[in-house]
Amino acid sequence: MFDVGRRPWVTVDGAETDRVVATVVQCPTGALRYTRLDGGAQEDTDDITTVVPVPNGPLFVRGKIRVTTPDGTLVADETRVALCRCGSSANAPFCDNSHRAAGFRSSDPQAVVPVAAGGDPGSPAEVCEPQDF
Ligand code: FES
Repeated sequence: MFDVGRRPWVTVDGAETDRVVATVVQCPTGALRYTRLDGGAQEDTDDITTVVPVPNGPLFVRGKIRVTTPDGTLVADETRVALCRCGSSANAPFCDNSHRAAGFRSSDPQAVVPVAAGGDPGSPAEVCEPQDF
Protein backbone atom coordinates (compact mmCIF):
# COMPACT_ATOMS: atom_id res chain seq x y z
CA MET A 1 0.00 0.00 0.00
CA PHE A 2 2.84 2.44 0.88
CA ASP A 3 6.11 2.51 -1.02
CA VAL A 4 8.09 5.71 -0.50
CA GLY A 5 10.39 4.74 -3.36
CA ARG A 6 7.55 5.03 -5.90
CA ARG A 7 5.41 7.87 -7.20
CA PRO A 8 2.65 8.02 -6.24
CA TRP A 9 3.84 6.41 -3.03
CA VAL A 10 0.34 5.45 -1.90
CA THR A 11 -1.60 2.82 -3.79
CA VAL A 12 -5.02 2.71 -2.18
CA ASP A 13 -5.97 -0.33 -4.24
CA GLY A 14 -3.06 -2.17 -2.65
CA ALA A 15 -5.00 -3.20 0.45
CA GLU A 16 -8.47 -3.79 1.84
CA THR A 17 -10.38 -0.58 2.59
CA ASP A 18 -10.50 -1.20 6.34
CA ARG A 19 -6.74 -1.68 6.42
CA VAL A 20 -6.19 1.55 4.48
CA VAL A 21 -8.48 3.39 6.91
CA ALA A 22 -6.76 1.91 9.95
CA THR A 23 -3.42 3.06 8.63
CA VAL A 24 -4.55 6.55 7.63
CA VAL A 25 -6.10 7.35 11.03
CA GLN A 26 -2.75 6.68 12.65
CA CYS A 27 -1.08 9.42 10.59
CA PRO A 28 -0.22 11.97 13.28
CA THR A 29 0.10 14.96 10.98
CA GLY A 30 -3.15 14.69 9.03
CA ALA A 31 -1.19 14.48 5.78
CA LEU A 32 -3.05 11.26 5.06
CA ARG A 33 -6.85 11.45 4.98
CA TYR A 34 -9.65 9.47 3.53
CA THR A 35 -13.22 9.76 2.33
CA ARG A 36 -14.98 6.44 2.07
CA LEU A 37 -16.96 6.01 -1.10
CA ASP A 38 -18.32 2.59 -0.14
CA GLY A 39 -20.80 3.80 2.47
CA GLY A 40 -18.45 2.95 5.31
CA ALA A 41 -18.06 5.21 8.30
CA GLN A 42 -16.11 8.42 7.82
CA GLU A 43 -13.32 9.37 10.17
CA ASP A 44 -14.39 10.02 13.76
CA THR A 45 -13.06 12.95 15.69
CA ASP A 46 -11.47 12.08 19.00
CA ASP A 47 -13.52 13.35 21.94
CA ILE A 48 -10.37 14.15 23.84
CA THR A 49 -7.88 16.55 22.34
CA THR A 50 -4.32 15.51 22.93
CA VAL A 51 -1.05 17.30 22.41
CA VAL A 52 2.04 15.15 22.11
CA PRO A 53 5.42 16.86 22.12
CA VAL A 54 7.69 14.93 19.81
CA PRO A 55 11.24 15.01 21.13
CA ASN A 56 13.25 17.37 18.91
CA GLY A 57 10.20 17.87 16.71
CA PRO A 58 6.68 19.24 16.46
CA LEU A 59 3.60 19.02 18.63
CA PHE A 60 1.24 16.33 17.37
CA VAL A 61 -2.31 17.48 18.07
CA ARG A 62 -5.30 15.21 17.67
CA GLY A 63 -8.97 15.99 18.30
CA LYS A 64 -11.28 18.82 17.26
CA ILE A 65 -8.72 21.36 16.10
CA ARG A 66 -9.27 24.86 14.77
CA VAL A 67 -6.12 26.81 13.96
CA THR A 68 -6.62 30.54 13.42
CA THR A 69 -4.51 33.61 12.84
CA PRO A 70 -4.39 36.22 15.62
CA ASP A 71 -7.24 38.08 13.89
CA GLY A 72 -9.40 34.96 13.93
CA THR A 73 -9.01 33.92 10.29
CA LEU A 74 -9.45 30.17 10.07
CA VAL A 75 -6.29 28.44 8.88
CA ALA A 76 -7.28 24.84 9.50
CA ASP A 77 -10.22 22.87 10.81
CA GLU A 78 -8.72 19.43 11.28
CA THR A 79 -8.60 16.30 13.36
CA ARG A 80 -4.82 15.82 13.26
CA VAL A 81 -2.03 18.37 12.84
CA ALA A 82 1.68 18.71 13.53
CA LEU A 83 2.45 22.19 14.87
CA CYS A 84 5.90 23.67 14.57
CA ARG A 85 7.62 24.62 17.78
CA CYS A 86 11.13 25.18 16.44
CA GLY A 87 10.34 28.42 14.63
CA SER A 88 11.92 27.27 11.36
CA SER A 89 8.92 26.06 9.37
CA ALA A 90 8.22 27.71 6.03
CA ASN A 91 4.62 26.52 6.51
CA ALA A 92 4.02 27.88 10.02
CA PRO A 93 2.20 27.17 12.18
CA PHE A 94 2.57 23.66 10.76
CA CYS A 95 5.71 21.56 10.87
CA ASP A 96 7.44 21.02 7.53
CA ASN A 97 10.38 19.05 8.96
CA SER A 98 12.65 22.11 8.90
CA HIS A 99 13.46 21.32 12.53
CA ARG A 100 15.84 18.65 11.24
CA ALA A 101 17.97 21.04 9.19
CA ALA A 102 17.75 23.60 11.99
CA GLY A 103 19.08 21.08 14.51
CA PHE A 104 16.20 21.82 16.88
CA ARG A 105 16.62 20.16 20.24
CA SER A 106 13.77 20.12 22.72
CA SER A 107 14.19 19.82 26.43
CA ASP A 108 11.08 17.68 26.93
CA PRO A 109 11.14 14.64 29.08
CA GLN A 110 11.02 11.54 26.89
CA ALA A 111 7.61 10.64 28.29
CA VAL A 112 4.58 11.44 26.18
CA VAL A 113 1.90 13.33 28.09
CA PRO A 114 -1.74 13.40 26.96
CA VAL A 115 -3.40 16.74 27.76
CA ALA A 116 -6.55 15.20 29.11
CA ALA A 117 -6.56 12.62 31.84
CA GLY A 118 -7.45 9.03 31.13
CA GLY A 119 -5.27 8.47 28.09
CA ASP A 120 -6.92 6.87 25.12
CA PRO A 121 -5.34 3.74 23.63
CA GLY A 122 -5.93 5.18 20.17
CA SER A 123 -4.38 8.53 20.97
CA PRO A 124 -1.15 9.71 19.37
CA ALA A 125 0.51 9.01 22.69
CA GLU A 126 0.09 5.32 22.06
CA VAL A 127 0.28 5.40 18.26
CA CYS A 128 3.46 7.43 18.00
CA GLU A 129 6.23 6.37 20.25
CA PRO A 130 8.60 9.19 21.13
CA GLN A 131 11.07 9.43 18.32
CA ASP A 132 13.63 11.69 16.76
CA PHE A 133 11.09 13.08 14.30
S1 FES B 1 8.97 21.61 14.57
FE1 FES B 1 9.10 20.83 12.57
S2 FES B 1 9.54 22.56 11.34
FE2 FES B 1 9.44 23.34 13.35
